[in-house]
Amino acid sequence: MGEPTVVLITGASSGFGEAAARFLAARGTYRVFGTSRRAAAGDLRDGVTMLPLDVRSDASVAACVDEVLRRAGRIDALVNNAGYALAGAVEETAIDEAKAQFETNFFGTARMVRAVLPLLREQGGGRIVNVSSLAGLVGVPFHAHYSASKFAVEGLTEGLRQEVRRFGIHVSLIEPGDFKTAATAARRRAAGGLAAYAATRDRAIDIMARAEQSGPDPIRFARLLLRILAARRPRLRYRLGTDAVWVPRARRLIPESVFEWLIRGNYEMNE
Ligand SMILES: NC(=O)c1ccc[n+]([C@@H]2O[C@H](COP(=O)([O-])OP(=O)(O)OC[C@H]3O[C@@H](n4cnc5c(N)ncnc54)[C@H](OP(=O)(O)O)[C@@H]3O)[C@@H](O)[C@H]2O)c1
Repeated sequence: MGEPTVVLITGASSGFGEAAARFLAARGTYRVFGTSRRAAAGDLRDGVTMLPLDVRSDASVAACVDEVLRRAGRIDALVNNAGYALAGAVEETAIDEAKAQFETNFFGTARMVRAVLPLLREQGGGRIVNVSSLAGLVGVPFHAHYSASKFAVEGLTEGLRQEVRRFGIHVSLIEPGDFKTAATAARRRAAGGLAAYAATRDRAIDIMARAEQSGPDPIRFARLLLRILAARRPRLRYRLGTDAVWVPRARRLIPESVFEWLIRGNYEMNE
């Protein structure tokens, strides 16, 4: 048997990251490092070596990557999964709250990418998988900054993929729809609530939370990730979940005004 493939998955304390880390570790051919802001370095959970990481901090990112190198000597794949959703109307959301959303979802991804790229180039190749969202393809009402942060991840990934291709580095996106994870409970709400939005906003956020909690199991993410890591030439985009496949397809097929009406209908905003 050859050397195991070394994978680093950010945000592996719950949801997609936890499911994927466990699933890969159980294969036996992967050496998996997972992260959490609350982990103690080296904690072993279901075969996954946990490391502390806050993607908002340059120092934390550097320490995490160094620690993987110290323990495994290389990194074959990075999965940028850490993130959260900020809810609230744009008018209700302070710029600092929006910046914090980008600091984790977008700059966190960029930070991790910058930290591992020198290594991947030196090794002569590797893989990066960035976790976007259906909300990175369609702007979601009362989650506009979350959507914007994922649209930004989409743009970063498209550009990056072209830049590093010649170094043998493959970069892909996973675009999940609604899934049952801890993200529903971790959702943050903009502090500056306005009465003008309250009823519509609360209803829309409730509908989204219910869709997530009645959504599929994140094990599907784990299986898809395994497929991407094993693919000879991974694609740019992988949609995950029926909604993530059909919503962008419907958008291409129907007039924009009808598509927008359907989105409003989904969130009961058509009164
Ligand atoms: N669930 C869905 O329906 C859905 C749909 C589309 C896309 N997504 C995306 O999928 C990814 C994973 O989300 P999930 O649904 O699995 O949610 P989750 O269960 O809440 O997991 C989020 C993970 O991110 C980590 N995290 C949050 N902030 C962090 C930070 N500043 N630094 C490092 N780690 C941080 C958390 O770890 P600690 O708190 O332990 O540090 C946790 O492990 C996110 O990017 C999310 O936007 C989710």
